[in-house]
Amino acid sequence: MSLSDHPIRLEARDVCVHYGAKQALYDVSIDIPDRAVTAFIGPSGCGKSTFLRCINRMNDTIEGARVTGRIALDGEDVYDRSLDVVELRARVGMVFQKPNPFPKSIFENVAYGPKIHGMVRNKAEAEEVVVSSLKRAGLFEEVKDRLHEPGTGLSGGQQQRLCIARAIATRPEVLLMDEPCSALDPIATAIIEELIDELRENFTIVIVTHSMQQAARVSQKTAFFHLGKLIEEGDTANIFTNPAKKQTQDYIMGRIG
Ligand SMILES: Nc1ncnc2c1ncn2[C@@H]1O[C@H](COP(=O)(O)OP(=O)(O)OP(=O)(O)O)[C@@H](O)[C@H]1O
Ligand SMILES: [Mg+2]
Repeated sequence: MSLSDHPIRLEARDVCVHYGAKQALYDVSIDIPDRAVTAFIGPSGCGKSTFLRCINRMNDTIEGARVTGRIALDGEDVYDRSLDVVELRARVGMVFQKPNPFPKSIFENVAYGPKIHGMVRNKAEAEEVVVSSLKRAGLFEEVKDRLHEPGTGLSGGQQQRLCIARAIATRPEVLLMDEPCSALDPIATAIIEELIDELRENFTIVIVTHSMQQAARVSQKTAFFHLGKLIEEGDTANIFTNPAKKQTQDYIMGRIG
């Protein structure tokens, strides 16, 4: 199945973001396909996280951040005043660049979302979601004997996998992952890449990564950002073998960034 056969899940048009007087994103327009992985690449500070946060309105929580333009999820404007942001964020899950477990037990970190969204009715069901989510995130074996200890007591890489387990436990339709593997060792990275590959059969995934190899391995579509602008986007294989813009080529060859 070629990328053009995938329906468009998310549509961004002329998205600009300012932090106070400083503009961080300039007129970003892109279509994100359903049931595929889209990778955002580009040098540090180019606006990848900023754009990712526009999609589930996490920039709303940043003081001084102002977003203009349009982003639609299944044709519905995510900035519409009548839209329920809590519901949006349940549909559009996020894994952040820095792991941010809740100050609760490992178990509760994962069970909390399914509980508040009424997805589990009793302790047995909660346990099932917790165990399967931890397994899929490649963490279960390491934590199975300490599920009731605080999530914040885990190592950085374990915390990140806990946050991934938490994000998938509520079965979001769209999953935004901001450098999900930057704190992980090669084994955990391989587990997460396998998980991403499995999830894309049913979900829309956007991943920010600084690893060209990872973008090439896991994504079907790639978008290259530079200095707040979307420079080029397209089929991952094309972007990596035959980029149209010199800036893209320089970046993937390691000449900028
Ligand atoms: N909360 C904030 N307040 C003010 N400026 C911000 C804020 N967050 C990001 N910026 C600025 O916006 C620009 C884009 O930042 P962003 O974090 O989106 O980049 P990035 O591509 O994710 O970089 P990295 O690869 O280092 O994570 C940068 O110039 C950054 O300094
Ligand atoms: Mg970032």
